[in-house]
Amino acid sequence: MQKYYKRYLLALGASFMLYACSTSQNETEIQEPMKVVDHHSYAKPEEAVITHMDWDASVDFDTKTIGATASFGISKSENASEIIFDTNGLSIQEVKDGNGQPLTFELGEAKPFMGSPLMVKLEPETQKVSIKYTTSPDAEALQWLNSKQTADEKGPFLFTQSEAILARSWVPVQDSPGIRFTYNAHVTVPKGMLALMSATNPTEVAEDGSYSFTMNKPIPAYLLALAVGDIAYQQIGSRTGVYAEPSIVKAAAYEFEDMQHMVEAAEELYGPYQWGVYDLIVLPPSFPFGGMENPRLTFATPTILAGDRSLVSLVAHELAHSWSGNLVTNATWDDFWLNEGFTVYFEQRIMEALYGRDYSEMLATLNLQGLKKEIKSISESEHPEDTELKLHLEGRNPDDGMTNIAYDKGYYFLRLLEEKVGREKFDTFLKDYFTSNAFHSMTTEEFIEQLNTRLFEKNGIAIDEQLYKDWIYSEGLPANCPQPVSDRFAKVDEVLKKWESGTPIQELISPEDIITKKWSSHEWLHFLHGLPESMTLEQMTALDEYLNFTYSGNSEVLDAWFVHAIKHQYTPAYKNMENFLVHTGRRKFLTPLYGEMVKTEAGKQMAKDIYAKARPNYHYVATSTLDAMLDWGKEETSM
Ligand code: BES
Ligand code: ZN
Repeated sequence: MQKYYKRYLLALGASFMLYACSTSQNETEIQEPMKVVDHHSYAKPEEAVITHMDWDASVDFDTKTIGATASFGISKSENASEIIFDTNGLSIQEVKDGNGQPLTFELGEAKPFMGSPLMVKLEPETQKVSIKYTTSPDAEALQWLNSKQTADEKGPFLFTQSEAILARSWVPVQDSPGIRFTYNAHVTVPKGMLALMSATNPTEVAEDGSYSFTMNKPIPAYLLALAVGDIAYQQIGSRTGVYAEPSIVKAAAYEFEDMQHMVEAAEELYGPYQWGVYDLIVLPPSFPFGGMENPRLTFATPTILAGDRSLVSLVAHELAHSWSGNLVTNATWDDFWLNEGFTVYFEQRIMEALYGRDYSEMLATLNLQGLKKEIKSISESEHPEDTELKLHLEGRNPDDGMTNIAYDKGYYFLRLLEEKVGREKFDTFLKDYFTSNAFHSMTTEEFIEQLNTRLFEKNGIAIDEQLYKDWIYSEGLPANCPQPVSDRFAKVDEVLKKWESGTPIQELISPEDIITKKWSSHEWLHFLHGLPESMTLEQMTALDEYLNFTYSGNSEVLDAWFVHAIKHQYTPAYKNMENFLVHTGRRKFLTPLYGEMVKTEAGKQMAKDIYAKARPNYHYVATSTLDAMLDWGKEETSM
């Protein structure tokens, strides 16, 4: 392997700082120059990088810990004297080389959100580094649920959430999106439980509670994932299936029946799906995100089980990450928009292919509304620069800067490029982009370079540097933002207008329309977003009595309605809202509701009362945001 290193440096002269190559016994070799410094990792990949991990772990629900040995194949420069791993809250028992000989190590000072560097001394002949360790019971990435917190209440449940920099709280690893490695794992769990990872997965429970996994494509650490619990599997198509607790697996298979078609539509657009199977697991409700694109196994919230397949764009989104993000990966968290903006664009294209332009334009309109709101609120915050696509997160918790900007401003920038050059040329560019950069990381600047040469110059179109300045390196929303057009939303706008000028809702929407569900949940959402800032209690009551928002089976509709309920002190909704807040851990739903409550003194008290009951059900990712919003814990300690 050393020879690759030399050859590469020779070829490049000394112009690139860094280089890594694979020593893995698995199939894909990485030969990637490390182009930039990742401020959110202690690793020094120019000296030594991991290329493969063998993870041998045992999951203990009683102590809420994982005891494991992580053995790494490494690649190092000639005079490397150490390799540095990221850790957070891990207790390190021993570090050895491939021959079982102890290696000297030191755990550095722990810093907020960064954790501690684990520095391991390397001997000239060291090829492998084995770390024996135990996780802490409050490891940020891990959520340990008791059986009451699951759907079936049959037993405890564990899941991980590694993005952005939480992998280091359950595995000592070089936790940087620019560093990739393959992995094999052997995991022991209590008998009767199923274990799943972002790798080849079992579909049935193993008698002895022992499972083996392989991920033979190199992935960054933020895509490491594990779920353990009472889990069943149902196949959907030849390459797709769902996992969920037994009582909901059927409903999940119904909801996501189009998954197979989504994979095919995606391949049609941007080339073969590279990860073998595409499965999805519906997690218990405390999962803090809508979805997480763990390779081969998307993790998803149960709040998308609406019963009418209305929220499946989330599946299209996580599937799209199999190209944007998992194949071509943001090099640092400052380039996060390359993961999410591309994914929203790709998601929209999948939705358009399956359900038509009219449908995807509804989604695009909702995104634009969300984007404008987000820009307004970030512009008034202490970090208005977070509305630039290229972020500056050095010294900050990356999670704080990961807003809708990356998603929706990113999407509209790519859509603008599409509209500028035409869809055909843009699609050819994107297909080539995903193919030629597969299993590599990408900086914003490198992307611009590729746009210039492979999209503009290649097609004889003038490069417009101003475009990058305005969209990537400036705050706010540029004036040339594309405008989505949705006829279906135009009809909703008409209803809203008439309703605001006094026509009763019954005269605008007929009972038959409601029964036949003439409007999709997106139209209802648009309706709810379009309601006036101030409404009388009579108006709220009339709407709710006729349209039954308070008991909607659609989580997005519920969330949007409850915001109005808080704003207008519409108390008939409070009981179900509290129920929703106590049982749902999806941060996207929680922040608008608690955020609305804290605007008044009485609301703040209500927020705290509900939060006291709900907090045990939330993941660290959600509590870290909400604790700050509600000043949680401050009063107690200052007393
Ligand atoms: N990768 C993200 C989730 C994420 C982002 C986790 C940043 C940690 C840090 C995932 O693909 C995502 O975007 N999820 C969205 C759903 C999507 C349809 C917009 C979510 O969870 O709401
Ligand atoms: Zn995403």
